[in-house]
Amino acid sequence: MEPKDFVQPQPRPIEPPTGRLGVLLVGLGAVATTFIAGVENIRSRGAVPVGSLTQMGTIRLGKRTEKRSPLIKEFVPLASLDDLVFGAWDPIPDNAYEAALKAGVLDRHEHLDPIADFLRGIEPMPAAFDQRYVKRLHGTNVKSGRSKMELAEAIRQDIRDFKARNGCDRLVMIWCASTEVFMEPSAEHENLENFEAALEASSDAIAPSMLYAYAALMEGVPFANGAPNLTVDIPALVKLANDRGVPIGGKDFKTGQTLVKTVIAPMLKARMLGVAGWYSTNILGNRDGEVLDDPESFKTKEESKLGVLEYILQPDLYPQLYGNIYHKVRINYYPPRGDNKEGWDNIDIFGWLGYPMQIKIDFLCRDSILAAPLVLDLALFFDLAQRAGMKGIQEWLSFYFKSPQHAPTVYPEHDLFIQQTKLKNTLRWLMGEEQITHLGIEYYEEE
Ligand SMILES: NC(=O)c1ccc[n+]([C@@H]2O[C@H](COP(=O)([O-])OP(=O)(O)OC[C@H]3O[C@@H](n4cnc5c(N)ncnc54)[C@H](O)[C@@H]3O)[C@@H](O)[C@H]2O)c1
Repeated sequence: MEPKDFVQPQPRPIEPPTGRLGVLLVGLGAVATTFIAGVENIRSRGAVPVGSLTQMGTIRLGKRTEKRSPLIKEFVPLASLDDLVFGAWDPIPDNAYEAALKAGVLDRHEHLDPIADFLRGIEPMPAAFDQRYVKRLHGTNVKSGRSKMELAEAIRQDIRDFKARNGCDRLVMIWCASTEVFMEPSAEHENLENFEAALEASSDAIAPSMLYAYAALMEGVPFANGAPNLTVDIPALVKLANDRGVPIGGKDFKTGQTLVKTVIAPMLKARMLGVAGWYSTNILGNRDGEVLDDPESFKTKEESKLGVLEYILQPDLYPQLYGNIYHKVRINYYPPRGDNKEGWDNIDIFGWLGYPMQIKIDFLCRDSILAAPLVLDLALFFDLAQRAGMKGIQEWLSFYFKSPQHAPTVYPEHDLFIQQTKLKNTLRWLMGEEQITHLGIEYYEEE
């Protein structure tokens, strides 16, 4: 029996995912090619989509006694992998096959050569690129225009052409390109009027990533940002997304060290264990590592990585436990490792009566192997959000980001399991299922 004031939730109207979904990737580097080649191996060669919540995850519905746990992809109407088509921009002219070989993530014989023709068919469109924003790269496949507004218009034209050429019903755009130099929000970003004037004036405050984001929103295409650049996280573009009814989100895929951090830190807080210091360092040898070797790009990444502890541990609420943490994050470019990053964490904690202890973590991960399934999930969920009429910042997808975009009135939620609960409850809400509160008192109450 339901309580008297119980109101059965109603499903939201969602357009069905008919036809093709074009996934437009800014950047055709390690992450993008690992994602594209992975999807093709899954759909044509029976590979397993490990790491993808949309493909492998289930969702519990109703009470535990009901034993209803469908696959997420059977519960919500997601685009099918067979309906995905891929496009990309990159200042380096390599097609997806050549780019994947250079990235050195996937085994050539096992995962690239069998789909070589498919990958060769994905050629990057000329990029809106400016070396001042990514110092370590030299691009040749670049657009030219008299102003930044002209470049944005050229990207809009690319979007329309891609859609027509590939017979797509819908599109999503995901920034998988290099991390740009650190920028702070400025007057040019405050509202659309200033932003468009800055585009016309080719102001330095407009980074290339903002051109893609602006073009996507103007074309009604959802935009997700996998790097820590400001990009769509500025008032002008948040407003544009809301006005045009387009979902946006970011920033910076949460894949390795920060994923671990946002699990360990909530554990320490849950047990009221103190933290004196947290030292995180990485060695990384791919192109991303090379770009991040530039102090200005590293600063953008550092800000994104540093934020999480402050929000999770809430030193203002727990000054005795977390008021005096020394938090340090380092990334060292070390070419021999390629895409196989090693992330170390040394955590100095203290317990009962202040006795010190240590936790050491050594995560030997593969950067793009962790990121690729996130790109897939984001493409499918942003498309779902669009079809469900959800616009602006999609905070329910914070689960995927190191530095989640959020409403100005709230602080970001970083705890991975709170983010997961939020994501799944949003799916339940979309489909008119009850929220799961984990109260569970009814299992123990006498009839
Ligand atoms: N685990 C992960 O791999 C992970 C996690 C979080 C964030 N990221 C971010 O994802 C991004 C991609 O990582 P990656 O390993 O694939 O890097 P990568 O260097 O292999 O690929 C990035 C590509 O973007 C291109 N590019 C640069 N500026 C561009 C522009 N203006 N327009 C179009 N293309 C442009 C570069 O030429 C390059 O080919 C990076 O910003 C990285 O910091 C990666």
